[in-house]
Amino acid sequence: MVVPWVPVLPRIRGTCYPTQFVLTERTGSPMSDMYRQSAHVDLTEAWQQLRRKRVSHALLDEQSGQTIPVLSHYSDVRAALQGSGQEGDDFVNRSTLLPLYLPCPEALTVLSELGAEPVTAAGDPPFHPQMRAALESVFPWKRSHVASYARVIEGIVTELLDSRIGETVELVDQFAAELPLRVILHLIGAPAGDGAQIRKWSDGQIHFIWGRPEPAEQVRLAHNLVAFWLYCLELAENNPPPHSITARLLAAGVTTNQAASFAFNLLVAGHETTRNLIVNMLFLLLVKPQRWQRLLDQPALVPIAVAETNRYMPPIIAWLRETARDVTIDDELLPAGTRILAHIAAANRDMPGGDDFDLITRPRRPLSFGGGPHYCIGAALAVQEAETALRVMLTRFRNLALTQNYTPRCEENIGFHAPSELWVTNG
Ligand code: HEM
Repeated sequence: MVVPWVPVLPRIRGTCYPTQFVLTERTGSPMSDMYRQSAHVDLTEAWQQLRRKRVSHALLDEQSGQTIPVLSHYSDVRAALQGSGQEGDDFVNRSTLLPLYLPCPEALTVLSELGAEPVTAAGDPPFHPQMRAALESVFPWKRSHVASYARVIEGIVTELLDSRIGETVELVDQFAAELPLRVILHLIGAPAGDGAQIRKWSDGQIHFIWGRPEPAEQVRLAHNLVAFWLYCLELAENNPPPHSITARLLAAGVTTNQAASFAFNLLVAGHETTRNLIVNMLFLLLVKPQRWQRLLDQPALVPIAVAETNRYMPPIIAWLRETARDVTIDDELLPAGTRILAHIAAANRDMPGGDDFDLITRPRRPLSFGGGPHYCIGAALAVQEAETALRVMLTRFRNLALTQNYTPRCEENIGFHAPSELWVTNG
């Protein structure tokens, strides 16, 4: 059955657009609920199952029977990510940042107060290329640009490790989340003291889009999103620090609303993802102590450890696109307006030996940072942060190990994937 999604949405500016959404019902054999499944750290079997077909219909919600078509082969996922609303493309981005489920009417009404514009991930031509160019003119998106932030990043790493790492510590909260948050606050020009509030809003946004909140929770999260948006607007309106991206965007001629929209996007994109990369990396290296030892012996492998983590257990395991027209893959018709999941994690492992974590250079680029015109603008920055974190940790914590009673679990979430806690000792 096809469910057209939602005449209410056209009233919402920003992350939401006038469009028709198509949700299909469960078909074929029983499946496990993708959302519940996501609590497990190791999803190897689920991703193998997805790769058995070019298009699977994954169950998003056991109760409603809602499913979504999932692409999982490397070439299909790459094609979906590269097709980004240009003339003749099969896929568009307009619904990329809309919740996976249909929010309740009250939450939609609250969301209609959001004035953010689709300046990044949810933008399509002709608007997105203009906005992307504006952002590239001020953002450190190349390795060479990021080098000028190396001292800032190293300073934050050192300060966090100095002040917080005791003998037994939970690293997600104390370190992995805090590092990218502080970096992005610095870049955007937001006061460091606002970090805790921004983190709450941002975590809420990830849950709102990629989770499965109950209606009352949807309304609460929608109110928080509006509060977050008003914060960004105020930031852009009130003379942000001259070094900041926000000030430089304004100087380059973007409107106040657009500068606020960039802040609204980057404050989330800049830290939720990189946190997951750092957590996944430390988890994968510590869960097999011989891997940590290998890096202690060969610190030159640090960039490979970061790259292999990003491939094997990417911070974002699946990303949304929408078909721009009728698309047929492997005899399966995906009608125009169908939301699909481009399964980055399954696709990254679509190669011989792909289910093994190995400290080797892989022959082809993982899709963890997306592709095409929307390729992640923060990729170089995220890699710099993760590499710096690992280098410094290796020099300071030679005996780092997971605590004995530590049981890893992830927040249930279709898109963002990493253990929610990481208990370690430095005994
Ligand atoms: C390991 C860390 C990161 C991962 C895995 C990641 C992943 C992604 C992915 C999958 C996309 C969508 C690409 C597509 O649609 O083809 C994306 C886009 C984006 N990312 Fe990242 N990201 C990371 C870090 C960052 C950081 C640190 C920033 C900023 C400070 C950032 C800012 C953005 C922006 C602005 C976009 C939208 C670009 C556009 O639409 O033109 N990301 N990222």
